[in-house]
Amino acid sequence: MTTTLWEYPSQHYDARDGSRMQGDKDYVGATPSWVIWQVLSRYTREGDSVLDPMCGSGTTLDVCRDLGRQGIGFDLAPSRPDIRQGDARTIGLPDASVDFVFIDPPYSTHVDYSDDPRCIGKLGAAGDDGGAAYYGAMERVLGECFRVLRNRRYLALYVSDSWKKRKGGPKGSGAGTFMPIGFELFSIMRRHFEAVDIVTVVRQNAKLGKGNWHKVAEEENFFLRGFNYLFIMKKVVDRPDGPRPGASAAAARGQGAMDRAPRRAPRGRS
Ligand SMILES: C[S@@+](CC[C@H](N)C(=O)[O-])C[C@H]1O[C@@H](n2cnc3c(N)ncnc32)[C@H](O)[C@@H]1O
Repeated sequence: MTTTLWEYPSQHYDARDGSRMQGDKDYVGATPSWVIWQVLSRYTREGDSVLDPMCGSGTTLDVCRDLGRQGIGFDLAPSRPDIRQGDARTIGLPDASVDFVFIDPPYSTHVDYSDDPRCIGKLGAAGDDGGAAYYGAMERVLGECFRVLRNRRYLALYVSDSWKKRKGGPKGSGAGTFMPIGFELFSIMRRHFEAVDIVTVVRQNAKLGKGNWHKVAEEENFFLRGFNYLFIMKKVVDRPDGPRPGASAAAARGQGAMDRAPRRAPRGRS
């Protein structure tokens, strides 16, 4: 791809070895493998180690195999034997040990991934605590990603914003809560990483077309999510001119540990 606007042709791609599937097409919340293929092709080299700490159906591992990268996958609820069990808030890898991190986290509470109470998909990005638990958990995850990444290497985070209709809101009023998850996670990452680029990945919403969703969006006065962000970040701990303005002290030292309490996220509008 040569621009920052991507539209993926299909959820999966046909690999050179003839296999037509990466991850699992029935896994709800699977990442489009084409997106991972594009990003790994540009930001990694053959033989590089690639970590996905929330590996889901294993899409990243399959793309790594296709591209000759060493995939390392963790998930709270591993769906297959080559994914190790682990909480992304405490990644079982040494400091500065991987060449790239790809991560597609839960976007608030849209999908029920597992019964594990530690699943971050059980934490709302809005709600009574203003999303503090969700963003606090993601801050720990992103701090760990920073810790295990080698200096001058890249991380890609794939994520979407979210909108939730207010229960009992008057029909057609558009009453609901917008959760700007993309920008919130981007600002957390900026405390650690240098920003390299922001790609918009257009969603075809083919599935939504089959239902009544577009009609409902019009009648209820809200927008369906039309794109995902793909944030590309870089770990730099040896800047010749000192730490980047705004970087956390831990980031400047090259550590992932948080040196500040999780911030309360702003309340969504209603
Ligand atoms: C959007 S899915 C990832 C999809 C994956 N990239 C794929 O293509 O199948 C998010 C994943 O995060 C996992 N998850 C949620 N909380 C977690 C945690 N604390 N540690 C590790 N994984 C977690 C869920 O089990 C789920 O598999």
